[in-house]
Amino acid sequence: MEAILLVGGQGTRLRPLTISTPKPLLPTAGVAFLAHQLARAHAAGVDRIVFATSYRAEMFEAAFGSHAYGVDLAYVSERRPLGTAGAIRNAAKALTCSSNEPVLILNGDILSGHDVTAQVSVHEKAGAAVTLHLVEVEDPSRFGCVPTDADGRVTAFLEKTNHPVTDQINAGCYVFRRDAIDTIPEDEVVSVERETFPGLISSGAVVMGYVESGYWLDVGTPQAFVRGSCDLVLGRIASAAMPGDPGERLILDGAVVSPRAVVRDGTTVGRGAEIEAGATVLGSVLQDGAFVAEGATVRDSVVGRGARVGPGATLDGVILGDGALVGPGNELRDGLRLWPGIALPPTAVRFSTDA
Ligand code: GDD
Ligand code: MG
Repeated sequence: MEAILLVGGQGTRLRPLTISTPKPLLPTAGVAFLAHQLARAHAAGVDRIVFATSYRAEMFEAAFGSHAYGVDLAYVSERRPLGTAGAIRNAAKALTCSSNEPVLILNGDILSGHDVTAQVSVHEKAGAAVTLHLVEVEDPSRFGCVPTDADGRVTAFLEKTNHPVTDQINAGCYVFRRDAIDTIPEDEVVSVERETFPGLISSGAVVMGYVESGYWLDVGTPQAFVRGSCDLVLGRIASAAMPGDPGERLILDGAVVSPRAVVRDGTTVGRGAEIEAGATVLGSVLQDGAFVAEGATVRDSVVGRGARVGPGATLDGVILGDGALVGPGNELRDGLRLWPGIALPPTAVRFSTDA
């Protein structure tokens, strides 16, 4: 089976990490995020993937070349972002399958343990134009809300609505019959969520839902990105692309971790990174060359390439851009993001004997 991977988004919610690296290429459990998706696609029987690129298009081919993780790769870039459906239509130029064959379409920021083969078989049995993987979530308003009837047929598609009619949402993995892709207008900006799906449903095409709520995560927010990386390290979702066995921590080549540091909860310590004695690093991603000094605490955070956390400083739910520096004693919390190269001076601690 062939697949199209949508990787043209700008990843704005993950800035500043995505200023230099597109979201799908961010290091996640030791490798580019997409490596996990490629390995999982291969395991599901996908043998060729067309990347639909736009933002920093050249970086994808440089990262993966023409074959990786058992899958042949092709790249199709948009001169201007064509939206999710425009991108699918554009990338379909590079497909080789015939018009009635199934094509897998994947959002490039999803970690999913669902059974793709079962999804394809629902699609084939129903003779559907499209079959969407659906999951149930607590807050459907942040996603595409997708009600289905008793036979599993999709009855509506409501993208990011404040009035969701069900907890069932679009999980970002579709099986399209090849000729259903050809109904999308060419060289136009089109949204699969706001135009193509509602259009197919109202025209009477068979659009099916495949509901499976196993492990599923959209890594598009800083919190979710850190969670996804740690879940991979901890083995909560299996990945053949992970460089090492699942465990409390993943320590990459050339990293130096003091035996008197506490490092756990799925933390990745990047190549050449260093953690000094007395530091505590929990559930975090330290990119290559990051440094955490003695007595510092880092939790649920990303420390960018070559960024430095000074002695006794605390980071909790923070993104440090590449080369940023947090001086001794600072406490940064709750979604704070420090841009690359920014340096925070040490906190001024004054001891006074006055009453
Ligand atoms: N090539 C290309 N061109 N890719 C694009 C473009 C474009 O113009 N716009 C977005 N993409 C890619 C992104 O890179 C990402 O992989 C995917 O399309 C989805 O975009 P996101 O920006 O991550 O969308 P979202 O997370 O807000 O919502 C989507 O995913 C949810 C599930 O996580 C929607 O499909 C929702 O309906 C869905 O519930
Ligand atoms: Mg997303």
